[in-house]
Amino acid sequence: MNRRILVTGRLPQEIMTGLSKKYEADINIEDKPFDRQKLLDGIKDKEGLLSMITDTVDEEVLDRADHLKMIAQFGVGYNNIDIKAATTRGILVSNTPGVLTDATAELAFALILAISRRLVEGDRMTREGRFRCWAPMLFLGREVTGKTLGVIGMGKIGKAVAQRARCFNMPILYHNRSRMSKSEEKELTAKYVDMKTLLSQADFITLHVPLSDQTRHLIGSQELSLMKPTAYLINTSRGPVVDEQALLETLRNGRIGGAGLDVYENEPALTPGLVELENVILLPHVGSGTLETRFRMANMAAENLIAGLSGKVPPNLVNPEVLPKRRL
Ligand code: DGY
Repeated sequence: MNRRILVTGRLPQEIMTGLSKKYEADINIEDKPFDRQKLLDGIKDKEGLLSMITDTVDEEVLDRADHLKMIAQFGVGYNNIDIKAATTRGILVSNTPGVLTDATAELAFALILAISRRLVEGDRMTREGRFRCWAPMLFLGREVTGKTLGVIGMGKIGKAVAQRARCFNMPILYHNRSRMSKSEEKELTAKYVDMKTLLSQADFITLHVPLSDQTRHLIGSQELSLMKPTAYLINTSRGPVVDEQALLETLRNGRIGGAGLDVYENEPALTPGLVELENVILLPHVGSGTLETRFRMANMAAENLIAGLSGKVPPNLVNPEVLPKRRL
């Protein structure tokens, strides 16, 4: 009998067909998060799981997954999976790094331009028939060219945003767990600074850290209070990195220039009050949401799953410490 796998989200048809030919595949073809109870029931007889960022793969799920060998996450972030619990049980976990770097960096930059030049607000005004005349002092935004960009989290995506910022002659400050090499700093014209300096000097602050115990509420009321009154906060990483209530209050009081958000603390719920504000752009978590990137992510997740289930080392394994005790 074919091996059984569970795929919790609808993928490009070609990938779903490929997986269905190879495995007995149980696929959630609805474009909505897989039901928790269905995950708990469905995982029992499966050897492979191709998971979405909306699935909580915790001990409760893993305790039922007696046959599970491999979790291939569709996404670079995997904070929804209890990696320690998976490793203890000998289950391999992979993710999809790299293939979504450009798409996510593009979106971060789109938010930088959109919030400072008031694109969404302007579109709304025009559609509603409120554009009555041109005037020198009407509907002004702030220029991006030459402004200082602060990058928090200088991994692949942070670097890709910094590269794009160079075309806008933006000086770059960055903060990261570790410093880049001198040559990388030079190439990106990026200066390593502490958080306080970055928060108080940057005109745009863009977040590119994974969600962990260390980064939860990395940006709270204290950090927001250090930002320039004209500065903008951009978040395309994970919602809980920002204390959304504190951000709401800061935006409501006009304490900073504005924010561009693609992710939320209790996604998809928004902190009440956020939608009433004009100085924030709210997107539905589409950082990696291009046809090209989502195809590459699906392909990569499928390749990882196939490698893991055929006893190989998946190319994007995130818990290599599991290898000596992997389930075969
Ligand atoms: C990721 O890969 O972590 C993204 O947030 C999914 O779009």
